[in-house]
Amino acid sequence: MTNENTHTNNALFERGNRVMPGGVNSPVRSFRSVGGTPYFVASGSGAHVTDVEGKTYIDFVQSYGPGILGHAHPKIVEAVTTAAGAGTSYGAPTLGEVELAEEISRRIPGMEMMRMTSSGTEAAMSAIRLARGATGRSTIIKFAGCYHGHTDSLLVAGGSGVANQGMAGSDGVPDGAVADTIVAPYNVVPEIDDTVAVVAVEPVAANMGLVAPSEGFLQGLRDACDAAGAMLLFDEVITGFRLARGGATEWYGVQPDVWAFGKVIGGGLPVGCYGASREIMGHVSPLGGVYQGGTLSGNPLATAAGLATLELLDADAYVELERISTRLATGMRAAFADAGVDAVVPQIGPLVGLFFGNETPTNFDEVKALAENGVYKTFFHACLSRGVALAPGPYEILFPGLAHTDEVIDQAIAVMAEAAELLV
Ligand SMILES: Cc1ncc(COP(=O)(O)O)c(C=O)c1O
Repeated sequence: MTNENTHTNNALFERGNRVMPGGVNSPVRSFRSVGGTPYFVASGSGAHVTDVEGKTYIDFVQSYGPGILGHAHPKIVEAVTTAAGAGTSYGAPTLGEVELAEEISRRIPGMEMMRMTSSGTEAAMSAIRLARGATGRSTIIKFAGCYHGHTDSLLVAGGSGVANQGMAGSDGVPDGAVADTIVAPYNVVPEIDDTVAVVAVEPVAANMGLVAPSEGFLQGLRDACDAAGAMLLFDEVITGFRLARGGATEWYGVQPDVWAFGKVIGGGLPVGCYGASREIMGHVSPLGGVYQGGTLSGNPLATAAGLATLELLDADAYVELERISTRLATGMRAAFADAGVDAVVPQIGPLVGLFFGNETPTNFDEVKALAENGVYKTFFHACLSRGVALAPGPYEILFPGLAHTDEVIDQAIAVMAEAAELLV
């Protein structure tokens, strides 16, 4: 039931809170770490979203990554509409799945086979199961501040929503589920012995703000995994098809054994995928003994949207994406410098982060010290009230995309410059 009263952000938040924890379906959206009432989106178009009260924002959330082309891109709308007209899910394989898998395989050197899932969480979880099944070992190593979705064994010291809620992990995860998980500091190659099945890493950490892998870190992991007979998993749910055409593997020239992807390859629809060499993927059921499946995995809408997205992400698109991101990062740095605000705006290709402080953090402890200084919250609201939507939490990054024109970027920078003045 609706009435005119319900079409305000406050009214919808109140209604939502009655039927959903925090009024949301994913914790960060609730504004817990910045305070206030979330804007309820009525529609999106390109670089903008409009809320139920008719207020339009320049959107740097972009669904936390999938919106690399912006909202409601005509080619994606057409692909999804056409696919929907032919049925939304069959429980039988389709041409679209084969085409999407072929396209991904062409782009990622060494990823010969893959399995589609409905989320990045499932992709990372299944990649871990595959690595354990293929090596016959149990231990997994993850890095503090990296987020790999909400699988029991991977939530500990998670970035993104876990960090935004000020949680070290999650209630409801039995000790047994994390008994085989070792958490290491990012940017230090850990000891890896012969009990370790897999080392899972975000090749660029993008769930504790933006933290770059230090020189030699990824290659160091590769070498240490090889020496110990462990697998290396790149969780490229954010970096995949954003950092470069071939993701972090192409960008850094380091090849993992197993990859997890999501976000961009679904064009805004629920998707994930994990993959590896033909030999390793031979362990996945029905070829091998590692079970994993899904009613909606590789569904026709997601594969159609993903294919349409990748079609538009040609070599020129990546040059443009980096140019746009550089314009944003450079403008932000100038805005903070002019206002006399201590801020660091790290940029790695199309990935842009923001920390309020002097030093560029290199691991989760350093990030936390900056993220918890309270400045982001003030900046976030100053931007939001002026029509620029950043992620409602200091552990997220900005997602500039191909819909952010120079004009839009410059408008956003002008708003950020005004907001920065309020911080001093
Ligand atoms: C690196 C990484 N891995 C895994 C996930 C989980 O993906 P999903 O939210 O689609 O389950 C995310 C989500 O933000 C992510 O950033």
